[in-house]
Amino acid sequence: MTSHNHPEVNIGLVGHVDHGKTTLVQALSGEWTDQHSEEMKRGISIRLGYADATFRRCPEEEEPEAFTVEETCGEHDVETDVLRTVSFVDAPGHETLMATMLSGASIMDGAVLVVSASEPVPQAQTEEHLMALDIIGIDNIVVAQNKVDLVDQERAQENYQQIQEFVKGTVAEGAPIVPVSAQQGVNTDLLIQAIQEEIPTPERDPDVDAQMMVARSFDINRPGTTWADLKGGVLGGSLVQGSLEVDDEIELRPGREVDEGGQTEWRPVTTSVRSIQAGGDFVDEATPGGLLGVGTGLDPAITKGDALAGQVAGPPGSLPPTLEQFTMDVDLLERIVGDNAGEVEEISTGEPLMLTIGTATTVGSVTSARGGEAEVALKRPVCAAPGSKIAINRRVGARWRLIGVGTLRE
Ligand code: GTP
Repeated sequence: MTSHNHPEVNIGLVGHVDHGKTTLVQALSGEWTDQHSEEMKRGISIRLGYADATFRRCPEEEEPEAFTVEETCGEHDVETDVLRTVSFVDAPGHETLMATMLSGASIMDGAVLVVSASEPVPQAQTEEHLMALDIIGIDNIVVAQNKVDLVDQERAQENYQQIQEFVKGTVAEGAPIVPVSAQQGVNTDLLIQAIQEEIPTPERDPDVDAQMMVARSFDINRPGTTWADLKGGVLGGSLVQGSLEVDDEIELRPGREVDEGGQTEWRPVTTSVRSIQAGGDFVDEATPGGLLGVGTGLDPAITKGDALAGQVAGPPGSLPPTLEQFTMDVDLLERIVGDNAGEVEEISTGEPLMLTIGTATTVGSVTSARGGEAEVALKRPVCAAPGSKIAINRRVGARWRLIGVGTLRE
């Protein structure tokens, strides 16, 4: 039997469109999402691509050459030692997908910022994604200077300096910058070494209640499935704390909107865990690290089409409150990131904001704004604890732009 290694840490792959995030994940994981079942492929990987990679060490080589993802190494094909398995969450680099990137960031323990050596630094989403990491508080970062095969040494060095300049004063200041070619597999050993050193597996408290951030939800039944064969709704996401077992009772918040005598109200939904899929295997228990597919007893009509994305799951009674409005302390950026979009003006009463809290993205209308704080009424409530970070986006021209960070008040 092959032994499976389950991921223990989530690492985001962020950066500008086409800078090579997907190629880099492929270079490090080999299999990309092929190891996962059709449901998972249809599910999680469409919006947030992901793949697990097992980092290994060759006992016959010195560092950094010893770092590899191969199962055997050296002239005699000796077995490599497993260091750990990581889960890469591949955030889309396209500007219209910032909300997806932001909600993905809530389940990242660290990140690799991919920057192409063949373009001037920074490109718009290089900057915007780095800002998002800063805002969400992800400070274990490795910079991969990719596509070094496309430039000569002089250009590569110039670009390296531009990156160093660019990260100054940001959360990535001092982060290792590793020149790589994802496509040619150059320097992946150095990159693995940097990830091992900079992005440790967080210490987990095994005794706290489980909390799962739901990033996706779906109905895995084929059209026409008969009632007897119908499978319950599936939740896709990641545990940020605790452990989840098959047969556990769980509650989802905010839950569902119910209509009672003309009044609508959000009520938590409770169900039980019927199955857990992690890294392509069915398991009895899951812990933080990696993306999970959780089969539930819910009517698949409730989970269809990401209807529960952005919700939080955990033991009944253990979750943060559901909020339809809240006050946040606001910290605005000085200017809007990317293409000379200008300064960030103060938030004003009445304006709509797009807010990302955990994996939830919701539009809020500002009901009151004064020096450093804003009160918002949400279109769709969120489940969040005081102190949670909120990415604040404002509509500028045709799209939502990141303008600052909020912290949820008590
Ligand atoms: P999005 O997911 O759309 O944001 O793009 P991405 O950042 O994942 O980029 P992707 O990996 O799809 O790579 C974009 C293009 O760059 C592809 O044609 C890759 O083959 C190419 N590419 C990626 N890495 C390298 C590299 O190291 N060298 C060269 N020459 N090309 C590369």
